[in-house]
Amino acid sequence: MVSPLLILCFSLPLLLFFFFQSRRTFKKPPLPPSGPIGLPIIGNLHQLDSSALYLQLWQLSKKYGPLFSLQLGLRPAIVVSSPKLAKEVLKDHDLECCGRPKLLSHQKLSYKGLEIAFSTYGDIWREIKKICVVHVLSSRRVPMFSSIRQFEVKQMIKKISEHASSSKVTNLNEVVMSLTSTIICRIAFGRSYEDEGTERSRFHGMLNECQAMWGTFFFSDYIPFLGWIDKLRGLHARLERIFKESDKLYQEVIDEHMDPNRKIPEYEDIVDVLLRLKKQGSLSIDLTNDHIKAVLMNMLVAATDTTAATTVWAMTALLKNPRVMKKVQEEIRTLGGKKDFLDEDDIQKFPYFKAVIKETLRLYLPAPLLVQRETNEACIIDGYEIPAKTIIYVNAWAIHRDPKAWKDPEEFSPERFLDITIDLRGKDFELIPFGAGRRICPGMHMAIASLDLIVANLLNSFDWELPERMREEDIDTEMLPGITQHKKNPLYVLAKCRI
Ligand code: HEM
Repeated sequence: MVSPLLILCFSLPLLLFFFFQSRRTFKKPPLPPSGPIGLPIIGNLHQLDSSALYLQLWQLSKKYGPLFSLQLGLRPAIVVSSPKLAKEVLKDHDLECCGRPKLLSHQKLSYKGLEIAFSTYGDIWREIKKICVVHVLSSRRVPMFSSIRQFEVKQMIKKISEHASSSKVTNLNEVVMSLTSTIICRIAFGRSYEDEGTERSRFHGMLNECQAMWGTFFFSDYIPFLGWIDKLRGLHARLERIFKESDKLYQEVIDEHMDPNRKIPEYEDIVDVLLRLKKQGSLSIDLTNDHIKAVLMNMLVAATDTTAATTVWAMTALLKNPRVMKKVQEEIRTLGGKKDFLDEDDIQKFPYFKAVIKETLRLYLPAPLLVQRETNEACIIDGYEIPAKTIIYVNAWAIHRDPKAWKDPEEFSPERFLDITIDLRGKDFELIPFGAGRRICPGMHMAIASLDLIVANLLNSFDWELPERMREEDIDTEMLPGITQHKKNPLYVLAKCRI
């Protein structure tokens, strides 16, 4: 008979072996490497500058690596700064990483996330996004609005021609903002504010205030028990005022659409569609006027600023690089058949021009940190455990300047795109100006169509000079704080009519 002691002696080493093996197998992965050491409670908040966060996080990534963690008050955050890790977050772990943090200013101005950009991932996001994509933003629908884009771009060219014939300097920021807001207002809700002086400034004032609020740090978001400081700073009152003003404007738009005497429009805009679906009650969510208002906010803010900012950056980059300006104008004017006005089909024949747009979106992307994400559940990124409810910054600014991905990354050189097939639609993670994955910008097709048409016609119709006593190196590339990066100082230029 085998004694129990003997069995124990033989089995003990085996048991110990399996015990340590299983510990090694099921050992919890480590947390990501830490960034700078913070203070108790506030963490790293005192070290961060919200007006140029992407630049600061870029510098920190050079010290702490392409993945590091921060503590934003009581909220954990990670910063991702390489194409490989962007792919892990935006593609491989898209489902776990496609949340948005609930921040006070986002929540307030989005009617508590009843829209696409700031809503958490779920039914509301899915339904509203589907409606906007199907009716306005898909690659099939975008060409249907080309007559609006062309009309409005022609109006802008006319306005600049008047400046040119009286040798008046043009403030390109102003002209382009006014154009992009008119285009989106006409497409999204069949209305142009540009004819009405006070309406126009009211509308632009509202957009600027929204931007300012989204660029402002609120204690309530990161250390809720210090939220009273936001009240003392007058931020709650300011937020409430902007909310009331914009709510009034959106209500007017809804009322106009419900007016029985309204002229039947040529096509249904997004408000018509949402009102019809609301009446039919055929959606999985109970659509209310607040949803419609939140969608209006989304369309206006996401489309106006980004497209205008990118146009100004493209012209800034070209004015700073006369060699590229000359080459792209030659291409447009030769291949464009000397037409007075280029349409969207003409532009598809200009490879160098297309490369200029890509290079602009590489170096001067209007959303350098995309839009913050948040993990819906814990996941493993690059072998590190990222807990649920962690804020994620994907620093596209840093990725677009990664020397491992780009030769001479700081140089504005559209030629780099002539020999490679890197695309900017979220498949190649070294170039992600529109983000990637589930939350990729749904307005991408519309944005590219507008950008192409505006920039190509600015280059076709005019030769561009700097105002007196200004040299190329005097043109600054400073950015304004906010969710969209605008050029801080307006771009003043002298247009000379070519035609
Ligand atoms: C040059 C122009 C534009 C750029 C560079 C841009 C960039 C972006 C980026 C980076 C995001 C965040 C993506 C992410 O989290 O991964 C985004 C989201 C979004 N964009 Fe754009 N955008 C542009 C134009 C537009 C236009 C014209 C519209 C609509 C008419 C639009 C509507 C939206 C919406 C609704 C979202 C939220 C998507 C979501 O959270 O699911 N954008 N955009």
